[in-house]
Amino acid sequence: MTDAKIKELISTLSLEEKAGQLLQVSGLLYDDDALVTGTMDYFKITEDEKKIAGSVLSVSGAEKLKKLQDKLMSEQPHHIPNVFMLDIINGYETIYQVPLGQGATFNPELTEKLAEVAAKEGAAAGIHCTFSPMCDLVRDARWGRVMESTGEDPYLNGLMGAAMVRGYQGDDIKAKGRLASCVKHFAGYGGAEAGRDYDTVELSERTLRESYLPAYKEAIDAGAKLVMTSFNTLNQIPSSGNKWLLKDVLRNEMGFDGMVISDYGAVKEMVNHGIAKDDTAAGELAINAGVDMDMMSFCYIRGLLELVAEGKVSEELIDESVYRVLKLKDELGLFENPYKDASEEDEKKLILCDEHRALAKQSAVESFILLENKENVLPLSEESGSIAFIGPFVDSHKVYGSWTFPKDEKTMVTIRQGIEGLNPKNNCTFSQGCQFFTKNVKCKNGERLEYDILKAPAMLEEAINAAKKADTVVMCLGEYHQQTGEAASRTEIRIPKGQMKLLKKINEVNKNIITLIFTGRPLELEEVSELSKAVMVTWYPGVETGNAIADVLFGKQEPGGRVPMSFPYTVGQEPCYYNRFRSGRPNNGTLDQGFVMGYIDQIDKMLYPFGYGKTYTEFSYSPVTLSADKLTGNAPIKASVTLKNVGERPGTETVQLYVQDLYGSVVRPKKQLKGFEKVTLNPGEEKVVTFEITEDMFRFYDINMNFTSEPGDCRVFVGPDSETENCAYFTLEA
Ligand code: GLC
Repeated sequence: MTDAKIKELISTLSLEEKAGQLLQVSGLLYDDDALVTGTMDYFKITEDEKKIAGSVLSVSGAEKLKKLQDKLMSEQPHHIPNVFMLDIINGYETIYQVPLGQGATFNPELTEKLAEVAAKEGAAAGIHCTFSPMCDLVRDARWGRVMESTGEDPYLNGLMGAAMVRGYQGDDIKAKGRLASCVKHFAGYGGAEAGRDYDTVELSERTLRESYLPAYKEAIDAGAKLVMTSFNTLNQIPSSGNKWLLKDVLRNEMGFDGMVISDYGAVKEMVNHGIAKDDTAAGELAINAGVDMDMMSFCYIRGLLELVAEGKVSEELIDESVYRVLKLKDELGLFENPYKDASEEDEKKLILCDEHRALAKQSAVESFILLENKENVLPLSEESGSIAFIGPFVDSHKVYGSWTFPKDEKTMVTIRQGIEGLNPKNNCTFSQGCQFFTKNVKCKNGERLEYDILKAPAMLEEAINAAKKADTVVMCLGEYHQQTGEAASRTEIRIPKGQMKLLKKINEVNKNIITLIFTGRPLELEEVSELSKAVMVTWYPGVETGNAIADVLFGKQEPGGRVPMSFPYTVGQEPCYYNRFRSGRPNNGTLDQGFVMGYIDQIDKMLYPFGYGKTYTEFSYSPVTLSADKLTGNAPIKASVTLKNVGERPGTETVQLYVQDLYGSVVRPKKQLKGFEKVTLNPGEEKVVTFEITEDMFRFYDINMNFTSEPGDCRVFVGPDSETENCAYFTLEA
């Protein structure tokens, strides 16, 4: 429709219908097996309110949504089509690696393809929009939602967020197999104090702008059609009531002209925050701040009429929000085709098809991070002899992130199934060894894990006997998948105690241990690494878990991941991030020093730093050479290294480029990632890897909050991770 037609339609709507278009309700209101992704406290909606809601979330299925669309449109006074939204953050039914694992791939092109697959499957299932990408910068592993992010670096997160938007949306969201994407959670949600979900965020404007906002901006510049406001207060103002954030920054500076939706109940939660005295006041705050659609809090549907009558909210303002909602529906083609791509036939053809599974497997392989490989125990071979696979993940299908809801989790290939499918010559045994926990646990999604104390001794004995007989042990351990994601912040970041006990017992009878770690966050792995010869993080790989692990363990493919979020020695070091500022009392990474920045009981280093990851071969780097020693705004320089595969196997290195501004009108980070390139070389092969260094890489908010670069001494680093000292100096000239 033309804008004029949309505005003409708006002119025919009653104020109540307009308020209805600004209401999104849970599919649970219409369908018992819709997903529950938020608090259910607000469910006192009336039948009339159900009828005029403009959007529904968390229900999917072609047949189901076609029927629901028919029902809702028939009850709409002007038969306006509903827009269906769902959290598809790492796959619809072909569930692939969690986003933090995708960050580990350092492969935005792969992430774009994955998002395209997710969109095809979700669109066939009748979905129109996905609540993805999550572009929150994360620095504290205690926060459960780090699993949904792509890590601690603004540059990497921006590339990943933009790739997801392109993958979901393509060039036209009306096209078949495309979804509108929603950038979340705007803004700064990842900065929750001490990693406590939903807690306060306090950021200087400079840190907000330099570290937290860039990734949202990249995703918006990639064309995202929606932005979701975050639960948190940002400097004491809840995002859903923050006019500066939503109007000045999002609309005026970033140029976002799409639809703003609140997070689940976030408008009403401003009453809890103590910034609105009641729901009506919360609705007034939100609509005036710029929130177009109220997800599941009913403040708009129950308050806007009164607010207009009292002159507190203008109907013109409401019309602007209704326009953006109807514009989205029009861009999706829903007025012409309310079902969009919903098709039972396409569901059967696309969902979990071989092509999609193959991509999920690639995503897993490229996300696995090899942290240790002493004595090159990996990859396994016939020489590895008999192998005992031990741990609660051995036969578990719970190898998918907690923000995915497979209809049948048996679609996840287990480790045992993957190994048996590969059918190596080695004699392999499989035993659980222990349960996920050593106590009864009620998960945030209501799932209960009952600890069976009677079973425990026999499980342990079976595993110990298997380890005694085996030449090699592969431990399959980690966090239970519901220990990460939303409402899953932890004060400890260790694998469950019972699993640690199992590892120690196995180590007493067999030292030849490889440990796989399933997790949605960086964990404390120092003791795991001391008890293992090899350690590999697998995150939650999804449907192809067992096949990807089998391929990587037996060397058919190599693990491609690099650390996207720092792994500390201990949780006491959190928050952690590589791009820190220098201190006036620099720490030399040891404990034999006094009166310096840092701790007296822990060296000021990461166990595994950002960008770190081993391959199955070895690479050497030549010193960095520069094409010139002066850089000006219109004369970039080139930084090069010669990379050589000095090992015995082919391998792929993720060559990383970092920059440093040695002096500024405000202090500058020790390093900032500004480029990376994945290079595959055969043994003995070498390649010159060149990066272009440009002036804009050095722009920041100076002492006067002007976004600019400043002349002075700088250096570039090119190396395998954020601790590289392989660097060269040059001068940035005005
Ligand atoms: C949740 C999450 C958000 C999600 C939304 C809809 O509370 O914060 O990420 O997209 O509700 O399920």
